[in-house]
Amino acid sequence: MFICLLCTFIVMKSCHEFLQHILPELGYRWAGFRKVRRQVCRRIHNRMQELDISNYLDYLYYIEENSAERETLDRMLDITITRFWRDKGVYAILEQTVFPDLIESARQENRTNIRCWSAGCCNGEEAYSIQLLWQHRLSPEKLELEIIANDLNPTVLERARAGCYPEGALKDLPDELLEKGFERKDSTYVIKERYKHNIHFLEQDIRTEMPGGPFDIILCRNFILTYFDRTVSEPLLSKMLSLMQKGGYFITGSTESIPPSFGDLKQIKKGEPVYKLIVNQ
Ligand SMILES: C[S@@+](CC[C@H](N)C(=O)[O-])C[C@H]1O[C@@H](n2cnc3c(N)ncnc32)[C@H](O)[C@@H]1O
Repeated sequence: MFICLLCTFIVMKSCHEFLQHILPELGYRWAGFRKVRRQVCRRIHNRMQELDISNYLDYLYYIEENSAERETLDRMLDITITRFWRDKGVYAILEQTVFPDLIESARQENRTNIRCWSAGCCNGEEAYSIQLLWQHRLSPEKLELEIIANDLNPTVLERARAGCYPEGALKDLPDELLEKGFERKDSTYVIKERYKHNIHFLEQDIRTEMPGGPFDIILCRNFILTYFDRTVSEPLLSKMLSLMQKGGYFITGSTESIPPSFGDLKQIKKGEPVYKLIVNQ
């Protein structure tokens, strides 16, 4: 990828401008990073200090000359903001509509499991939220839930496997699930061992690797549609849909929407980011 240094010479004065220039070059969307730019700029600033580089144009030259720096920069763009039970409206639809529909279909097809993929799972908050919902509010007989949760960041995956969380991460989780699911140890909450059953945390960069399907539910929230440019996110979305069961559900973040070209995904309730894969034959 060629970085047009001359075009940027006049304007590259702030981190803001640096990001507006570099993000599309790396396949990211500036709009997705607007709210979190301070965090990202702090990381970039520290990195430039480490390299003894004092301005953004010199840093661009450095990236141009050192291909490994692209990967370092890519890691600095990793946003890991999340929490348990994020968007309670989504969990209400999962409980009242999505899971009952999938359980009914699985029974009719004599299947013994339902498969769910939490993409960009971060510290595991989403995967454990789904597990608690399944075990305490649904728990149908003779049917298992398997959860595949992947992320490219090994640090968050280590936290996910350990299952220890600060109180702030759990503030939206219903009290009854907090009481049942966790043990308190000093200032942290530790998920009980039984809730780790059938959750598989995988280290994968979704741009090059995806877990094996088919999936009944894919949760891809506050991730590819927010941070990746269309040239990256749309092919990924197509690939993800090819890993879904017909009649399966795709869930996005509440501020994200499915591009109109993905007409097979029908929103099931106005205003809620829950889509069903309808394939006409
Ligand atoms: C903002 S968090 C969203 C977490 C959760 N899905 C939610 O909605 O709360 C985005 C997550 O995606 C992960 N991620 C970013 N790029 C990725 C990639 N290329 N492949 C896999 N995971 C990635 C990040 O490490 C981070 O944990």
